Amino acid sequence: MKHIDIIEILKGNYTDQKVTVCGWVRTSRDSKNMAFLELNDGTTLKHLQIVIDKAVMTDIAEFMKLGTSLKVEGTVVKSVVAEDSVEINAEAITVLGVCPPEYPLQKKRHTLEYLRTIPALRVRTNTFNAVLRVRSVISACIHEFFQERYYTYIHTPLITGSDCEGAGEMFKVTTLPFDHGFKTEEEYDAADFFGRRAALSVSGQLEGEVAAMALGKIYTFGPSFRAEKSNTPRHVAEFWHVEPEVAFAELDDIIEIAEDLIKHIINTVLEKCPEELKFFNAHFEKGLIEKLESVVANDFAVMTYTEAIDALKASGKEFQYPVEWGCDLMTEHERYIAEEICKRPVFLTNYPKEIKSFYMKQNADGKTVAATDLLVPTVGEIIGCSEREADLDKLIEAMNIRGMNLDDYTDYISLRKFGSVPHSGFGLGLERIIMYVTGVQNIRDVILYPRTVGTIS
Ligand code: 4AD
Repeated sequence: MKHIDIIEILKGNYTDQKVTVCGWVRTSRDSKNMAFLELNDGTTLKHLQIVIDKAVMTDIAEFMKLGTSLKVEGTVVKSVVAEDSVEINAEAITVLGVCPPEYPLQKKRHTLEYLRTIPALRVRTNTFNAVLRVRSVISACIHEFFQERYYTYIHTPLITGSDCEGAGEMFKVTTLPFDHGFKTEEEYDAADFFGRRAALSVSGQLEGEVAAMALGKIYTFGPSFRAEKSNTPRHVAEFWHVEPEVAFAELDDIIEIAEDLIKHIINTVLEKCPEELKFFNAHFEKGLIEKLESVVANDFAVMTYTEAIDALKASGKEFQYPVEWGCDLMTEHERYIAEEICKRPVFLTNYPKEIKSFYMKQNADGKTVAATDLLVPTVGEIIGCSEREADLDKLIEAMNIRGMNLDDYTDYISLRKFGSVPHSGFGLGLERIIMYVTGVQNIRDVILYPRTVGTIS
């Protein structure tokens, strides 16, 4: 169907020309001699006004129904009311798909909670129009960031036999029928598709490290799966994960890369999505644009875990979960550190080794690891990062302490035998950075189909 994108028409390149556009009716208004439709085709947040002269077109009732899809032929003219905009004087309109009155998006604004109940239609709202475009722009600019810096994009497997984070929060992959009758778990696993236990990967890091030990700088960008029963506004069971892995990089080097990436993402959204940011600034977070401009203009804070614990204790604030050195930080603590103590994004470094993963480089103090989380105001953790333990003996010791089965990690362990190098990497949750950049507060509203505990649609 030959037609022109509405974004192109609104750029003003077709003024005084005859064009065809397609889209869905977002609003309609009828008056004595004229009728007005606002059409949106998804290429921009803005709608295109279609002006109907009722002396020329009489049978217009079907066009006026919200949600109806139309093909409109007409002439682009300067808008009568908005000088810098254009509209179309319609000459012929074809209904492509009728839309009955029970179409749920009749009202201007619905709650996000209600919209979650109509996933197939919520994408037609301004919010999802803007969120999904920002998501697309961020995804493209992440590739751009790494490609311009000689990183190789690696596709790591989604089905795995190892648990990268060691938290045991994995979705099992099986083809065995319900009624199997095995006597032991070992027997059950051995009879399964792969002849051993398999699960959906929580992180591409372990395989990413394999690639980085040959290609130097790599990144992965794909889905990760976590069977955490965390029913929070920040957790989904399937999220998109960006994981660079860099050879010859220590903790300070990787912190610099992570800060550069976040600033690149924000700068790109500021440049390419001004309309969307204006929308989020007006409807989701007052001062959002100013916040983003300030984030890219200033250095992120860096603070040790120990300093953060001291500061939390000294704050006098009553937290739901009490704070002691050695505790895992909760979102309430992370947000307080970023929002109240640092008032900007902060890399929290050198966590106690007991609360972090086996692969992290052990610091000389014997108590902490060279790990850092990037905490940002309103969201909390958006990046988990560390220098990796490059010493074979120390790595094996850490795995043994955690009771891990070394046979499941032979490839990974072998990297420390054959030309091991200092190396570091991090994981950025795509949905979390989208939340930070848009001000949308619930992760379920920045992904097309959120997968969370107890719901799948
Ligand atoms: O801190 P995490 O668990 O780190 C790793 O997975 C490392 N293997 C990464 C690496 O070093 N290559 O997860 C990294 C990030 C988190 O900071 C968060 O942004 C996101 O992944 N994330 C989630 N996002 C949404 N829902 C969940 N359930 C998430 N779990 C982690």
